[in-house]
Amino acid sequence: MGGRLDTLSVYNFEQNSRSLVQDSSLKTIIQTWIAETGQNTLNWLDICCGDGRILIEIAQGFPDLQINFHGLELERNIAKRAEINAASLKNVTHNQIKIGELSLLQNSFTDLKFDLITNINSIHELGIPEISYLILESFKKLEKKNGYLFLFDLCSLPYDEPEPGAVPWDYPEACSFFNKLSEIFDIPKENLKPNHHRSTIGAWHLSIKGMVLYRSSKLATTLENIENSEKHHKTFIKFIKDFIEEKKTETDRSIKLTIRRFYPTKPLSESEMKEIQNLLDNGFRIFWSCHEQLRIN
Ligand SMILES: C[S@@+](CC[C@H](N)C(=O)[O-])C[C@H]1O[C@@H](n2cnc3c(N)ncnc32)[C@H](O)[C@@H]1O
Repeated sequence: MGGRLDTLSVYNFEQNSRSLVQDSSLKTIIQTWIAETGQNTLNWLDICCGDGRILIEIAQGFPDLQINFHGLELERNIAKRAEINAASLKNVTHNQIKIGELSLLQNSFTDLKFDLITNINSIHELGIPEISYLILESFKKLEKKNGYLFLFDLCSLPYDEPEPGAVPWDYPEACSFFNKLSEIFDIPKENLKPNHHRSTIGAWHLSIKGMVLYRSSKLATTLENIENSEKHHKTFIKFIKDFIEEKKTETDRSIKLTIRRFYPTKPLSESEMKEIQNLLDNGFRIFWSCHEQLRIN
């Protein structure tokens, strides 16, 4: 993971240090939030918080800001490290980290509204229903006026660190996903347009303000009405499933095209056929087609 994050680092000449694109984008959002609200206490929910690396970066970058930190993390050991990290930071209070699957969100922190909800470097690791939970629960838990939702992920994964089951979205795919979201909820497309970071691997982020979301009466009704929420979960899940199926088909197609380029016109010998088969079996095909994502009903 270290290498992947390094690929997204940029040099900050003013501070003479390296910083990560996701950190600097998030810092800009927090600065904007402080300027807009004049508040010095931030209620933050970090979904898939990992070991709290970003919390440390933000807490140290904004020493006068009091942070009420809430996290959700699947891996117990990692969540414990996040708790220890959070406890070591003077300006972090109410540090509560739930351990478990994203579906836990539905019944967690139900009486709270957050000024900031983040999901960083993690969407590619989430299963189809979880992405839906992430989006809908974040909408539900975001402070309606000045809250910010910040989603950040990589456009692709480095091949030296294979991650079976991981499905990154490239920039056009992220755009098409959020377009669908805008259709479902009648939110103007321009408010759901991700930013593109054109670093080596590439990344995108989307930041949405609560006020913008809640201008959509369709969304407000959905979030208040459990039946509508369930209906939208189903619509989302179907959309994401189709989307991933399409990626799989497209990946198979591009592998075959690449192979044709290697063996342009002449008929293939048996050993060449075998080589191709191995490529298909052991390479990208496994990566894309055997992942758990498509095993849902
Ligand atoms: C690549 S790490 C990113 C961590 C952190 N956000 C960061 O940027 O440093 C992804 C994290 O998501 C967690 N995760 C993956 N699937 C999850 C799920 N279904 N529910 C909750 N957490 C999950 C993993 O355990 C891992 O810690």
